[in-house]
Amino acid sequence: MAEIGQDIIKAKQLLELGELVAIPTETVYGLAANALNPDAVASIFETKKRPAFDPLIIHTDSCSRVTDFVSEFPDSLKILAEAFWPGPLTLLLPRKSCIPDLVTSGLDRVAVRVPNHPLTQSLLASLDFPLAAPSANPFGYISPTAAAHVQKQLGDQIPYILDGGLCQVGLESTIVGLENEKVTVYRLGGLELSQLESLVGEVQVKTHSSSNPAAPGLLESHYAPRKRLILGDLDQLVSHYNQNGNDFAVLSFQTNFKEVPTNRQIQLSESGNLREAAQKLFAAMRELDELEVEFILSERLPEEGLGRAINDRLQRASAGN
Ligand code: TXA
Ligand code: MG
Repeated sequence: MAEIGQDIIKAKQLLELGELVAIPTETVYGLAANALNPDAVASIFETKKRPAFDPLIIHTDSCSRVTDFVSEFPDSLKILAEAFWPGPLTLLLPRKSCIPDLVTSGLDRVAVRVPNHPLTQSLLASLDFPLAAPSANPFGYISPTAAAHVQKQLGDQIPYILDGGLCQVGLESTIVGLENEKVTVYRLGGLELSQLESLVGEVQVKTHSSSNPAAPGLLESHYAPRKRLILGDLDQLVSHYNQNGNDFAVLSFQTNFKEVPTNRQIQLSESGNLREAAQKLFAAMRELDELEVEFILSERLPEEGLGRAINDRLQRASAGN
């Protein structure tokens, strides 16, 4: 199994040797490698069983270092970077040739982000290369928000997990780029649309893989537990499946269901706080996925603020059912 610890020097040494290290960020844990070393990047794809057509985000410690990797930084995106980095924002920018093809899957733009986590910030500052890092989960499964999640699924394949505690945001970064001069969101995430719009005006949202071949990783069926996840009106679903004598677990926003055993249900936020719900979402999906039940019943949250990104994840997790 992987060693788990907080040793930045050890993480740095492994990364310099081209090894993989799991790193904490405020969004989810990443599976990191030297982004400028094609062999190291290739082992990310192997370890995750990720198709090579799905490009990676590179991580660095400051806005000023980003210019080493990109050939242009349009003003409207720079405004966002200055306001929200470090933070849950990824920008698609024209890449320089130092970025290997494998990182961008041959696309002209590279995805860049400055994450907001003290351990990873210090690690990035100590390195003379950026880190390519997808979420540290097997391709298609729920993203990890704790070191133990990474250990459980990838621990036998990597030497070290840098333990930064529980991820504070809990949803992946919001991915933004320019399309015909318009600020465009390709993945809803931990930075809310209203935060973007307060600085650059109305943005367009294009989060479907079919209309968005530029981000092939945004597959319809993604972030998925192994158990079937059914989305709908929870009152109706619970009484329907209860009558049929099915074994199920419940993932609700606020409601506690008296007729469901307490160890088979999780409320994302009893007080109805969307930030708390986002922070708990992936850990809750994992916990219920590990129960001896046939399927998981869940519901959409209010379509506002982080609720939009949460609903996007729930929708993808239920796709294919
Ligand atoms: O919060 C996050 O963004 C986390 C942490 C670790 O930083 N990372 C993450 O990476 O979620 P990943 O690989 O699981 O998701 C990255 C998404 C994929 O859907 C990929 O297709 C898209 O970003 N992407 C990456 N590079 C791209 C590019 N050049 N053009 C379009 N989409 C890109
Ligand atoms: Mg991912």
